[in-house]
Amino acid sequence: MTHTLSKNPVFCALDTTYVTKAVTLAQSLVGKVGGLKVGMEFFYANGPAGYQAVAETGIPIFLDLKLHDIPNTVAGGIRAITPLEPTMLTVHTAGGIEMMKAAKAASTEGPGVSPVVVGVTVLTSLDDGDLQMAGVTGTAADQVRRLAGNAQAAGLDGVVCSPLEVDLIRADCGPDFKLIVPGIRPKGAAIGDQKRIMGPAEALGRGADVLVIGRPITQANHPAGAAEAIQAEIAAPAP
Ligand code: C5P
Repeated sequence: MTHTLSKNPVFCALDTTYVTKAVTLAQSLVGKVGGLKVGMEFFYANGPAGYQAVAETGIPIFLDLKLHDIPNTVAGGIRAITPLEPTMLTVHTAGGIEMMKAAKAASTEGPGVSPVVVGVTVLTSLDDGDLQMAGVTGTAADQVRRLAGNAQAAGLDGVVCSPLEVDLIRADCGPDFKLIVPGIRPKGAAIGDQKRIMGPAEALGRGADVLVIGRPITQANHPAGAAEAIQAEIAAPAP
């Protein structure tokens, strides 16, 4: 059995290396977000013990380690992290179909509920020129669609994508493929370094399943209040 994603689509990105800061923030967000995203900086700095300190809040965790290696090594990495019982984890689709198949298979071997396994397609820091330098002909959008198709063919549960890619991938991959979407900015939030952004309600309307939101919550004076305001924005009827 694979984890069911929470009804609340907002996962807050805990982009910090400090356990105390992460735990305090997580405690304030209990009942206000659907999950927390723990990435490589936190996990490399604090390991499973740091992870467990955050997980003790009971909030589902998206362990975003973006695994990318040969199939056997990625499968081993996944076997090492599934005992932590993350709700969701990531692998790079560029690792190939055999790697993604091995990742999905390894994720189901443990005795507990299996994590949702999603693929990272083209990093949003790369543009068409960067891809050409790496020998990819065609546009970044073409490559995202190709890699999302590979992820689905390999049996992954979904992909991480920009809000502007949701329409295309939803149309290509159908209603059950999970789309995990960062680059979300609620009303009044600073854009920061994000370039291709969208509001939470619009991204959900286009077919996003999970909204990954970091600084608009973590940098707010009252993170819990910011998370509540996002819920209100999502619930409000479209103008
Ligand atoms: O603070 P902000 O809302 O921009 O945080 C978004 C989170 O999603 C960060 O953890 C960022 O690294 C991550 N992310 C992203 N764009 C991607 C993939 C991940 O912003 N394409």
